[in-house]
Amino acid sequence: MASSTTKPAAAHKVPELKNLTIDNITENVHRINSQCADPRLKYVMERLVTHLHDFARETRLSFDEWMAGIQFLTQVGQKCTDVRQEFILLSDIVGLSLLVDSIDHPKPPSSTEGTVLGPFHTHDAETLSPGSQISADPAGTPLLVACTVKTTSGKPLSGVKIDIWETDSKGKYDVQYEDRGTNADGRAIVTSDEQGVFWFKAIVPVPYPIPEDGPVGRLLEKLGRHCWRPSHMHFMFEKEGFDHLVTALYVRGSDYETTDAVFGVKDSLIVALETVTPEQAKEYNVAEGTQLLTYDFVLVTDEETKKLRHDEAVKAMKNLGREGMIIVNGLPVPDVD
Ligand code: BEZ
Ligand code: FE
Repeated sequence: MASSTTKPAAAHKVPELKNLTIDNITENVHRINSQCADPRLKYVMERLVTHLHDFARETRLSFDEWMAGIQFLTQVGQKCTDVRQEFILLSDIVGLSLLVDSIDHPKPPSSTEGTVLGPFHTHDAETLSPGSQISADPAGTPLLVACTVKTTSGKPLSGVKIDIWETDSKGKYDVQYEDRGTNADGRAIVTSDEQGVFWFKAIVPVPYPIPEDGPVGRLLEKLGRHCWRPSHMHFMFEKEGFDHLVTALYVRGSDYETTDAVFGVKDSLIVALETVTPEQAKEYNVAEGTQLLTYDFVLVTDEETKKLRHDEAVKAMKNLGREGMIIVNGLPVPDVD
């Protein structure tokens, strides 16, 4: 039986789709898709088809190139497993992940910027108490991480759930080891206290290559690009009423600081490591000489984010000269009234 989306053609007012040419195929695909009942999907498809067709026309795309593209995307899909997301990796290396994060999570100047999530966040990190060690790697350089989390008006935020993940000293995430089993390592969930403070022990992050043994790695090689990320530690913040923040801190002076393979580095997220003072070593119960990472994170409320997202969408439509659009939940859709 036909579902509502697969009604027989006669039930719709379908334009006559024949004798289509390089010059008129785009408008005809738009015409048939314009029957879509979901205005947002209709708009997204209209723009996607426009850009895809223009891409083919502008490049004079050959059949062989089209087929090579299909085969490449097939390989990307085939490389994906429960712990390997080659499509996210592809999105990362063409800058799409960073772009989408910046669009969907706009930030006022006083707040902490977001950056790429990457494919190595998991949902099985243990919740640890303040001061815990998150890395079991004895070869890592000891690092004390002592941070705060506040609102844009400087009020400390307690009870924020903070997900942290980093590689071991060889530049590998725990999920990249076949024998990892259920033993999460180099990752933890911690919670901020009444003063908005959270702290833990870790190891100094190192640069590492993104997974290069798949189609995305081969593409990078063909493009003459390296596959390295600078030293960083990931942080994800969740607190009811605040915009979800996915970010990372980058170690100042790390190799690849200005040539990150996935475009994630922002000046505001680069931090110079220090060495703990003898007083800090005592206070936090770490060895003298331990490296220290401090940072004051600032979260944005859902309300602030909603307004910013709306204002940015209005601005973007104006800049694109797109008339007749309304903004619904921060997303542009055609105004049908
Ligand atoms: C990461 O930082 O974990 C990462 C981000 C993008 C691609 C690969 C890895
Ligand atoms: Fe990473």
